[in-house]
Parts: sequence; C-alpha cells; structure tokens
Amino acid sequence: MSCRDAMASRGKIAVLLINAGSMLKLRTAEEEKRSCEISQLRQAVLQNNDRLLDEMLCQEIYKKVINCRGGWGIAGTPLHAAVSKGHLSCLQVLLAHGAIIDCVDVKAQTPLFAAVRGKYLDCVLTLLKAGANPNGSSSNNCSPVLTAAREGDAEILKQLLKHGAEVNSRAKVLLWTSSARVSSGPLYLAAVYGHMECFKLLLLYGADPDYNCTDAKLLSSDKQPKTVLEMCLRHGCGVEYIQLLIDFGANVYLPTLIIEKSTKQNEAVELLLRERGNPKALTSQCRLAVRRHLRKINKINCIDQLEMPTSLINFLQHKAAPVTVL
Ligand SMILES: *[C@@H]1O[C@H](CO)[C@@H](O)[C@H](O)[C@H]1NC(C)=O
Ligand SMILES: *[C@@H]1O[C@H](CO)[C@@H](O)[C@H](O)[C@H]1NC(C)=O
Repeated sequence: MSCRDAMASRGKIAVLLINAGSMLKLRTAEEEKRSCEISQLRQAVLQNNDRLLDEMLCQEIYKKVINCRGGWGIAGTPLHAAVSKGHLSCLQVLLAHGAIIDCVDVKAQTPLFAAVRGKYLDCVLTLLKAGANPNGSSSNNCSPVLTAAREGDAEILKQLLKHGAEVNSRAKVLLWTSSARVSSGPLYLAAVYGHMECFKLLLLYGADPDYNCTDAKLLSSDKQPKTVLEMCLRHGCGVEYIQLLIDFGANVYLPTLIIEKSTKQNEAVELLLRERGNPKALTSQCRLAVRRHLRKINKINCIDQLEMPTSLINFLQHKAAPVTVL
C-alpha cells in the first residue's frame, strides 16, 4: 500500500468514526433510559425476584421493554435470562405479562432452546405448554432436539417429541467436524455420545434409521454421505445400537459400507452379515410397515390409541411382548 493510499484510507476511517459517533449520540438520549429499564428487568430476573418483576411489569415503562434484548454484550431478552438460569417463577411472570414466547436472541436461539441447553425440564415444560415452537427457530444453526440428543436428556427429548418437534432435525453446520463429514442428526449424536435411551426414543418417535445427509452444500464437500448405521459401525457404537437400527428397518445393504475387521466391531459386523442372510420375520416386517404408514400420516405418537390388543400395541412400540401371542 502506498503512502497516499494509506492516508486516504485513514481519512475514510476517520469519517466513519465521526459518523458512528453522531449516530451513537442520536441514540443515547432515548436509548439510555430504555437500556436502563431493560437492565433493571434483567436484574430482577437474575435475582429470581418474581414479586419485584411482577410489580415492575405492571408499570408501562417496564412493560414496554419486556421483549427487548439487553444492551452491549447481552444476547437475549428477559425471557432468555430467566430460562437460562432455570428461574421458573420469573418465566411464569414474564409469560403472564405477555412476553413473546419465541423471541430470538442474537444467535437466533429461542427461550426453549436456552432452557433445553440449561437442562431445565420444568422451564421446558412450561414453555411447551404455553405454545413454544418445539423446533426452535429455523434460523438457528442447532435445534432443541439436537441439543437434548447430544446431552442425553431423555425426559426433555421426550417432551419435545411429544409436542411435535421434528425428529430428524438437521443441523445447519457440521456439528461433527473431523473425518466424519456427517449427517450429524440427533440419532447419530445420541449414538456417538452413548445415550441409548435417547437413541431409542428418537427411533420410537419415527427417526429415520437411514438418516442421511441431504444438504446440497454439505454433499458437495463430501461425495459419499454416510447413513447412521454406517457411522455407528465406523465409530464403534455398541452392537445394541446396530441391533436397534436393524429392528427399526435400517438398510443393511449399504453399497458403500466397508466392513473393517477391527476386533471392536466384530460382533456388530457379524450381526449385520447375519441380517443380510436372513430376511426379517413376517411379524417384524408388519411392524415396520405399520410404523412406516403411521409416520407418513403423522400419527406415530398415537400407537397406544390404536384399537388392538395391548400385546400388539406393545409389540408395535418395541416393548417386550409375550412371544406366544405373536
Ligand atoms: C416442527 O417440525 C415438524 C416437522 O417438520 C412440523 O411438522 C411441525 O409443524 C413443526 N412445528 C412447528 C410449531 O412449526
Ligand atoms: C444417502 O444419500 C445419498 C445422496 O442423497 C444417496 O445416494 C444414498 O443412496 C443414500 N443412502 C441411503 C442408504 O439412503
């Protein structure tokens, strides 16, 4: 860069700074007062002082800023502050005073997402019952289901799924960097982090056992996307994960599957080869067909309302059922 260029750009920076300065000054008078009120609301929430919060929100000046994000360095609204600390009573006060339930913070995280991340089941339940979107915001890179699956929070995961969350939730970014340029869906995360209960829950609520990367951008950087089954084999997730995937109808004839003869995987590989040689029992095929249909008509959560004997309902839900009945 020549000396003249350098001076020219310094001049530009100076002009920018002056502009920024006058904009800041224009903001100050009105914004200062607002930001003071936002911060007072926030303080009441952080101190878990629900009575003070309630009194404040009866005043117009505070009510006006109930859905405002805090100032510099503060990403979210008072609602975010309440749920990220698990302050249930403050959450209830804010909702009663009309806080917007799915307002997002600067990372497009909804309060529900923050409650899931904080592992506060009571806050999660309150938000879901009050109508929070179980999928979170579509602008967020992650989702409540992905977070609960990765953290192994089975009860929170169950509540999200019961309230209609997308079970094959897709991350916008590669959650799993390294070699595994994956389809890092919730099933895969649950398997890799060893959360069997979450893994089974996801399958029961209709997760795709052939979950596969479909994102065009990710695919262009990875010519051969892997399914969950393949990822589980490669990463040495226990044989019980492979068994469940097979039971829930995963494709066992993966063309890209390279069977590595590592000791850790012997059992799982044997299971897979056995499965390739023997077709599933007719009862299992029927179960898959019924479940597939229910998933298609968006009724996979309604199996226990079907008019059929309990033992069959149990079988459809992959609960142990007396073999003789089948
Ligand atoms: C959440 O996602 C599922 C699956 O895509 C969809 O059926 C459901 O309507 C979504 N829920 C809301 C509240 O948007
Ligand atoms: C996974 O996705 C790729 C690309 O969409 C596709 O070619 C492949 O058949 C899929 N694999 C399975 C097992 O569904």
